[in-house]
Amino acid sequence: MQHSAVLNVMIKAAHRAGRGLKRDLGEVEHLQVSLKGPRNFVTAADRRAEETVREELAKARPDYGFLGEEGGARAGADKSHRFIVDPLDGTTNFLHGIPHFAVSIALERDGVVVAGIVYNPANDELFVAERGKGAYLNDKRIRVAARQRFADAVVACGLPHYGRGDLALARREIAAAQQAFAGLRRYGAATLDLAWIACGRLDAYWERDLSPWDLAAGSILVREAGGFVSDCDGKGDIFTKGEVVAGNDTMHRELLRLLKEAGSEAGKDAIREAAAP
Ligand code: IPD
Ligand code: CA
Ligand code: CA
Repeated sequence: MQHSAVLNVMIKAAHRAGRGLKRDLGEVEHLQVSLKGPRNFVTAADRRAEETVREELAKARPDYGFLGEEGGARAGADKSHRFIVDPLDGTTNFLHGIPHFAVSIALERDGVVVAGIVYNPANDELFVAERGKGAYLNDKRIRVAARQRFADAVVACGLPHYGRGDLALARREIAAAQQAFAGLRRYGAATLDLAWIACGRLDAYWERDLSPWDLAAGSILVREAGGFVSDCDGKGDIFTKGEVVAGNDTMHRELLRLLKEAGSEAGKDAIREAAAP
């Protein structure tokens, strides 16, 4: 697979940061038994990973802007290009020694994501996509699942927890999803949820309260794999609204309908009735 020069730079940066995170994961597993736990160690690992990515990208593209979850936004002399980076997506998994996390790097050109990579160093799975060139997992072409029936679908979601997100709405959405799908999953790394949609492991995914670095790389993976990505109203404002619905054409459309119903007054009544003694 012939990648562009900038994608190869992004891949090199992700591999370098990934080597550090894989080493740190070993230490985290060891620290689980310490009373203080590994929280401070993981924060340092997160920051180290972002610094490694930023350094590697700046070597090759010093004038590009940079938006990272840990260090924030840094404008570049080149106002057209910006990297959007989540150096460690799935922090809570990482903190618990769960090998499901990723380095996510996207390239935005004039406000449009044109390349993205999501790399899980724990299992060495590298998802890449460039606009118009398809999506790949470890250099093999990937496409979204072809399943059309909800009853056959395995779907991923976020799980708002206390103090974050609309718990009542989430409960209605999840209740509706449980009645519709073959399986519901919550994996804890939004970038990998989108990458797994792109390679067909998952049939659909939705989540709210996300940041641009959670969404940027995964969105181009899904689109280049033939899938659809929108906000919860079916529009393109995923970054401004911080929400995503993704899947093949049918699954995406049907999931939008299910979420709309769960969010409606009828949805509230239906859950109230179901919960009534
Ligand atoms: C989190 C993960 C998680 C999602 C959270 C994100 P982080 O990213 O992607 O799956 O539900 O909303 O903040 O904090 O681990 O980089
Ligand atoms: Ca993160
Ligand atoms: Ca994240």
